[in-house]
Amino acid sequence: MFVATSHEEIPLLGGDVTEGVVRVGETVRRPTRPSTPSVHALLRHLEAAGFDGAPRVMGVDERGREILTYLDGESGLRPLPPYAVTDGALAALAGLLRRFHDAAATFRPPPDAIWEDGSNDDRAPELVGHCDVNLDNVLFRDGLPYAFIDFDLARPTTRLFDVVTTLRHWAPLADPLDLDPAQRDLAVGPRLRLFCDAYGLPPRDRRRLLDLARLRFSRSYAIMRTRAAAGGGWARLWAEGAGARIRRAGAWLDAHQDELHVHLV
Ligand SMILES: Nc1ncnc2c1ncn2[C@@H]1O[C@H](COP(=O)(O)OP(=O)(O)O)[C@@H](O)[C@H]1O
Ligand SMILES: [Mg+2]
Repeated sequence: MFVATSHEEIPLLGGDVTEGVVRVGETVRRPTRPSTPSVHALLRHLEAAGFDGAPRVMGVDERGREILTYLDGESGLRPLPPYAVTDGALAALAGLLRRFHDAAATFRPPPDAIWEDGSNDDRAPELVGHCDVNLDNVLFRDGLPYAFIDFDLARPTTRLFDVVTTLRHWAPLADPLDLDPAQRDLAVGPRLRLFCDAYGLPPRDRRRLLDLARLRFSRSYAIMRTRAAAGGGWARLWAEGAGARIRRAGAWLDAHQDELHVHLV
């Protein structure tokens, strides 16, 4: 294994948004943003609550970057390895998200908390969710998800909404055109069911899940377009077709919603 010397900065590639994520020894340094103090409060709460599936906060370095613990493992980067799309990985992810939600549910954000804007929910918030459980924001160990990274989009939301965002990427709920080759032959309906069972999602949430996914697609499209207009990483994502992908996912869901719904009720 490669061991970094103390001050060497090793770029961490694979994230799609943040420039300048580096590993330094057993730490990760990331640029801060207005929401960073709020995210740190969340991460410290998770630590105190005994949730071990997230990096620990170690402070801010002399260059103003956040310092997080480096976690071993691989994030789910494209092209996806076969282990990232197994039913076992999906069930482990659902269990991880449930434990994260249960720990986050007792977090009371500071009154002046600032979160990344993402006002696309339909209900009053229940907890601070991760809100970006893409495959590249999950670390695998021995072929199974065991930790979340990249809490940049964390914000008050509902459990169901965070579940929907997660399933968007992991079931996945997407036009096959946009999938990684490893995801193309997955049985999406049974995987929705498997995830909900492993998470322990109540029947009333299962019944609403796909309607909420459709709502989310339309709202995410609008939010992403607004973010892209401000420039930076989001503008690049938009230029690379992120908006069109959301539109295709919405159309795919319209065509398949009834057959998928059968697996949830
Ligand atoms: N705490 C961490 N431990 C280990 N690897 C990390 C950690 N944070 C980030 N990485 C690695 O760096 C990559 C990009 O970081 P991420 O925080 O997801 O940034 P982005 O906002 O660009 O998605 C991740 O895909 C992962 O491989
Ligand atoms: Mg990321």
